[in-house]
Amino acid sequence: MRQDKIRKRVHIEVYKYNQYETPLFDALKTYVENDTVPFHVPGHKKGVGADQEFKEFIGENAFKIDVTVFKSVDSLHHPTGPIKRAQELAADAYGSDAAFFSMHGTSGAIQAMIMSVVSSGDKIIIPRNVHKSITAGIILSGAIPVYMQPEFDKKVGIAHGITPETVKKTLEENKDAKALLIINPTYYGVATNLKKIADIVHSYDIPLIVDEAHGPHLGFNDKLPMSAMEAGADICSQSTHKIIGAMTQCSLLQVRTKRVDAARVAQVLSLLQTTSPSYVLMASLDCARRQIATEGEALLDKAISLTSYARDEINKIPGLYCFGNEILGNPGVYSLDPTKVTITCRDLGITGYDLDMILSNKYHIQMELSDLYNILAVGSFGDTAESYDKLLTALREISAEYYGKGNKKVDFIDIPPIPKQELIPREAFNSVKSRVLISKSIGMISGEFLLAYPPGIPILCPGERITKEIVDYIKQLKEAGLYVQGTEDPEVNYIKVVKEEDAVYINVE
Ligand SMILES: Cc1ncc(COP(=O)(O)O)c(C=O)c1O
Repeated sequence: MRQDKIRKRVHIEVYKYNQYETPLFDALKTYVENDTVPFHVPGHKKGVGADQEFKEFIGENAFKIDVTVFKSVDSLHHPTGPIKRAQELAADAYGSDAAFFSMHGTSGAIQAMIMSVVSSGDKIIIPRNVHKSITAGIILSGAIPVYMQPEFDKKVGIAHGITPETVKKTLEENKDAKALLIINPTYYGVATNLKKIADIVHSYDIPLIVDEAHGPHLGFNDKLPMSAMEAGADICSQSTHKIIGAMTQCSLLQVRTKRVDAARVAQVLSLLQTTSPSYVLMASLDCARRQIATEGEALLDKAISLTSYARDEINKIPGLYCFGNEILGNPGVYSLDPTKVTITCRDLGITGYDLDMILSNKYHIQMELSDLYNILAVGSFGDTAESYDKLLTALREISAEYYGKGNKKVDFIDIPPIPKQELIPREAFNSVKSRVLISKSIGMISGEFLLAYPPGIPILCPGERITKEIVDYIKQLKEAGLYVQGTEDPEVNYIKVVKEEDAVYINVE
C-alpha cells in the first residue's frame, strides 16, 4: 500500500484529552441512576408508556436514555455541557479544530458543508458521480456546480477517484471557483492522492471539502489510506454509523478553521437539523468515538486480516474477481481500503444484482450493494471469521452452478459526455416544468435528475440540456435491465423539463 509518511492517530499519547471519557453517555447514565421523574417528552416516559412487545424486544435501557434537551444532558444546538465536551473529544480524536455531531447522517453534514462555504451564484467544483446529498447542498445553497469526471475502470465497471491532474486542470479553467469537493475513499474503498489534491486546491487559496462518508476509520490504522484531516482537507464529513460502531444516522463533521468558519458551520447545521435529536444515537456516537480512538488500531487490524483472507479466497473461486493491490497506480487509484471487498462476477455470466439476490434469498447473506457487474461487502470490526466462511461457501456453490455454463459475459455500456449546463440546479429544480416522453426530450432542459447504476454517475442533473446521446444511452441501459432512476416517473418513460419561456439562463461553460 502506498502511504505518505504521516503519523496516524494510533497511539493514545497523541491525544490532548482523555479519550476514555464519554461525557454524554455518562450524563445520561446519571439521569437514569438518579431515578429522575420525567415530566418531559418523549411521551413514553422512560419506556413506561411504550408498546410492550417492542420494549421487550429492544430492551428498556434504550427508552431510559431516550430523553430530550435539558441542562444536565445539554443541547445539540447550543452545547455548553456534555455534548460540547463530546464534540471536543471527537475533534481531538480526528485531529481537527472543531467537530460537530450530525444526526442527519453524512447527507445532512454534506449539505451543511456546502452551505457553509459557498452561496448563491458561487462556483463549486465537484466530481460528476456525487451522492445526491451533494446535489441537494448545491440546490439549497444556489451554487453553480462545475464537474470533474472520475476515472472509470472498465474491468470492474466502477468509477474510482479524481486524479490530482483533473483537479489542477479544472481549477486552472475555473479560477473563480470558491471550493472544491472530493469523495474519498469511494464506496468501493478506492482512495485518490488526497494530500497532493489538498496542496493543489490550497495553492488557489480555496477550501477542500471531503465527502469521507466511507472513511471514519482511516485515521486509526497505518494500513489504511490517509484520512481527510491528515491530508490537510479543510472540512469533511464521515459516516461513523456506516463503518465504525455508531448507530444509524450518526455522522461527524470535522473542520479546520484556517479556511472555514466553524461558527458558520454550527449555524448552518442548526438550521438543518431537528430540534429533537435522539440522545440514544448521540450517546452511541460518543461511545463509538471512544472505541475508535482507544482501540481502533487493534480492531481495524482484525477487520483487515479477515477481509484480506476473504479477498485471497474469493480470487481462487472460478468466475469471481476481487480487486486488490494490483490496481494501485491505475488512474484514480492511489491507495486502497482493504476492508472493502468488491466481488466482480462478470465471468459467471450473471449480474451483480442476480448474485446479490441469490445470496440473500438462498443463503440469507445480505450484501451492502450490487450493480451490474459487482457486489460489495463492507467489512468492519463487527465481522467474524464465521461470517466470511459462510460467504465463501455460498460463493463457491454459486460458482459451481454458473461458471462455464455458457452464460454470456455481461457487457459494458459507455457513458455519454456531460451535457451543457444552462441553468443553476436550484433554478431548474424550482422552475415551472412540464412532463414529456424521454424519447421526445432531445434539446430540452432537464428539470430532474437521472442516475444510472452502474456506474452511479448522474446522466442528467437539473438545468442540463438533454442530448441525443443521453436519450440513446437511457434506452440502452433500460434494454440491458439496468437501473435508471431519479425521475418522478418510476418507469422512467417520462421526464420533467423546464418551460424555457420562464427560465433564467446562466453563463456556465
Ligand atoms: C459517497 C457518499 N456520500 C454520502 C453519503 C450519505 O451518507 P449518510 O447515509 O450517512 O447520510 C453516502 C451514503 O451512502 C455515500 O455513499
